[in-house]
This record gives sequence, C-alpha cells and structure tokens, in this order.
Amino acid sequence: MSSILEFTKEIEKNTSSIYDKIKDVIPKIEWPLYAPFIDKINHLKKIKNAVILAHNYQTPEIYHGVADIVGDSLSLAIEASKTKADIIIMAGVHFMAETAKIMNPNKKVLIPDLGAGCSLAESITAEDIKKLKKQYPGVPVVTYVNTSAEVKAETDICCTSANAVKVVESLGVNEVIFLPDAYLAKYVASKTKVKIISWHGTCMVHEQFTSKELNDLRKNYPDLVIVSHPECPPKVIKASDFTGSTSGMIKYVQDKKPKNVFLVTECSMSDNVQVDNPDTNFVRPCNLCPHMKKIQLPKIYDCLMNETNEVLINKSVIDKAKLAVEKMIRVGRESNLS
Ligand code: 13P
Ligand code: SF4
Repeated sequence: MSSILEFTKEIEKNTSSIYDKIKDVIPKIEWPLYAPFIDKINHLKKIKNAVILAHNYQTPEIYHGVADIVGDSLSLAIEASKTKADIIIMAGVHFMAETAKIMNPNKKVLIPDLGAGCSLAESITAEDIKKLKKQYPGVPVVTYVNTSAEVKAETDICCTSANAVKVVESLGVNEVIFLPDAYLAKYVASKTKVKIISWHGTCMVHEQFTSKELNDLRKNYPDLVIVSHPECPPKVIKASDFTGSTSGMIKYVQDKKPKNVFLVTECSMSDNVQVDNPDTNFVRPCNLCPHMKKIQLPKIYDCLMNETNEVLINKSVIDKAKLAVEKMIRVGRESNLS
C-alpha cells in the first residue's frame, strides 16, 4: 500500500475547492499528502459505482474530501438501505460496515481496516445474550447498533443514540434488556418509566470525560454551551446543556449557533462541524477513538482499488439481524435528538 502519491499541479487544481472548504482545519503543509488520494478515490468511485459512507468521527479530509454520505449510526444504517451503488465503503468502524452488509446482503461492502472495532461491540457476545434471555424469560432485548451482527441476530430490535428512548417505548412493555452500553442504559432509564435491565459495556472514548473537566471549562468560558453524547457518564450528561446522537449534536450547534461550544465526544467531530460553522469557537479537549482513526485515505484508496477487506456475514445471521435493524428504522428518530 502506498502512503505517498505525487502532488501534481493538476491534482492541486482538481482539489482546490475541497481545500478551500477545509483550510481552517487542515494545515496547508499537509494538503499535498491528502489531495492525491482524494483525487484518485473520487475518480475511482465513479468508475466502480462505489459510495463512501462516513461517520461523523472521521477526519476532515475523509469527511469533507471523499465521503458521499456522512452522518450518525442511524443515518448510515438508513442510507445503506437505500443506496444504488455496487460497492459500499464504510469509513467508520466494523459494526457500521456489518450493518451496511446486513441491509445489502447482495452488495460488496468493504471496510478500509478490518481491525477498526469498538469497545462497546467487544463487550458482549451472542452467547451472553442467550444467557440473559434465559435469566429474564420473555423480556424483549433492545440492542445498541454498536454490536456485532451475531449479537444483533439475537435481538428483538436495535437502537442508536438517536432513538434509544423511542425504541424502548415502542415495544409497549414494562421492562426491557438494554445492551451493551451501561451509560446509555442509564440515560434511557432517566427518560422513561420502562424498567431497564442493563449490561456493563462502555465506550472507551466517552467514559473518560468527567464533570470536573466540564465545570472547570465553564469557569474559563462563562457562556460555554456543553453538548454531550449519551455514551458519557451520567454526571457528565447532568453537567451538559444538551445530550444527543452525533447528528443531534451537530444539529444543535447549527440551530443554536453558540459562541463557544464544547462537544463532549470524539475529536474529529469538532473539526468537521467547525467547517460549516465558522462563527462558533469549538473548545477542546476531546478524546480520540483509536478505532475510527484506523481509517485513513491510503487505506480507503487501497481497499477501493483492490476491493479488499470485504465484510462477510453468514446468511442465517443476516436474515435475523436484518429484522432487528429494519424494525429500528421503522421507529425513526426521537424528535428532540434529530
Ligand atoms: P452516533 O450513533 O451518535 O453517531 O454514535 C456512534 C458512536 O460510535 C458514538 O461513539
Ligand atoms: Fe465505539 Fe466509542 Fe469508538 Fe464509538 S467512539 S466507535 S462507541 S469506541
């Protein structure tokens, strides 16, 4: 895999409108490293009728440079179900690529790095769910999409951070098993009367934030607006002004146009949102997701060019998992977290 391609005058011209857009978040000295890949990837996509879906945590050169569709986990699942492309490249983590495959069993779904996992997805197996179902007979299982296809296949319905409460309430029952994120489960429990039986998974990125950090920042920026993801610990959510999925967080910034905002989430979100909201100051620190950061332009190019790293799932698993994802898509988004 080549990590450097020549930066010609022609490539500079072809990519100049993209660079103009993201010049505030990508130093000029770095552009010659990215531009040749962006140019080649965009050209190859047309030839191969491929589409690149990118999660909001992807770096700006991917998010603004080569992605056809960007969004949170729910949007990516919905878009994956609609695409007419022959090849889907998931610029995101493995469970997102699996969801795209579940929705498109006959299409080629590729991920630039098969090792791009997720601490939540790794916290639970299909065997764990089978045991829980025996322990709580008849109680429906709601599974966060941040799980493997095998786990989804053992599930009644999936949810994302954009619709977790709505999904739980859509079942019309008094209690549910809600997996695997312990903090998202606490967040949902705080918003519904339905009893939540949870699991002990956590997101390695969001669990690191503390309410002390948020309160200290408020001392430096008295008008600071704090927007957090529901995978954060409860004290962090309590200290925030708004909590929502990554797309919900972006929409909040677009609608409210705060002067100073702290997005309590993965680092690239602030860079990506800053591009379209130049009048807002994005206060850091933030935490990096090592899995999301495994996806880089040279790997996207290689995977598209050679059609490598195909995501394959057993048909019987797809058939069961698809029902759970489709049920979730039918429920839609929470109106306040859109
Ligand atoms: P969203 O569904 O809110 O985009 O979150 C996905 C994720 O992995 C958050 O850490
Ligand atoms: Fe998983 Fe957290 Fe990374 Fe999202 S940010 S992919 S939940 S480890």
